[in-house]
Amino acid sequence: MARPILVANWKSYPNSLFEAKSLLNQLARQSRLYKKFNFSIAPPLVYFESVARSGFALASQDMEMTDILKSFGTKFVIVGHSDRRAKGETEEIINRKVKIALRAGIIPLLCIGELFSDRDGEHFEFLRSQLRLALAGVKNSKIIVAYEPVWAIGKSAKGAISPDELSQTVIFIKKVLSDILGRKIANQISVLYGGSVEPANAEALMRDTNIRGFLVGHASLDAKKFKTIAESML
Ligand code: PGA
Repeated sequence: MARPILVANWKSYPNSLFEAKSLLNQLARQSRLYKKFNFSIAPPLVYFESVARSGFALASQDMEMTDILKSFGTKFVIVGHSDRRAKGETEEIINRKVKIALRAGIIPLLCIGELFSDRDGEHFEFLRSQLRLALAGVKNSKIIVAYEPVWAIGKSAKGAISPDELSQTVIFIKKVLSDILGRKIANQISVLYGGSVEPANAEALMRDTNIRGFLVGHASLDAKKFKTIAESML
């Protein structure tokens, strides 16, 4: 069985190089745990070198400066994160970035997610369209999909997804991937979840939902919380 995937999405934190290094030192002390994962850290670019030196795998928060990302040995790149979509990143740009990443040998971590909490299933069509547009002209299994309902993202998110809702959505995403890419390729694509993953909900969200791991935002900046999340995924 492949290792679970765990991505620490630092967004625009920590606030200083000192804090970034201290967080990396704490994570390094728990490195035996993180070896059990396909683990990477997505720091702001200014901390790339520190993360690279720590020996942890790098994920980029955006597909930019391809050669620089490659020179750091960047393993993953987050594409279509809601923060960037909110700043105007269109489906067309996302599609282009997915292709650039694949050509560069960096695995795109494609984020999709509806904006508002919807209990009537209308978000399914929205997700289908995001996937279709982002993957237009792509026939590749070296992609990871991260389902991140925008309404559940961030420390001050109003709602949290239930394991039931998550598991239904993952089934739907896999079906759409199979329609777009064919079953053989789709079966090789992992689906992650992101959106207020916390020590309190990680185990329930991982169990029986068919996700392969997490993209963790704010809780990844707290080494203790992050460790608890990781432990509950095994
Ligand atoms: P969150 O962020 O864990 O802080 O909700 C997830 C993300 O934005 O990737």
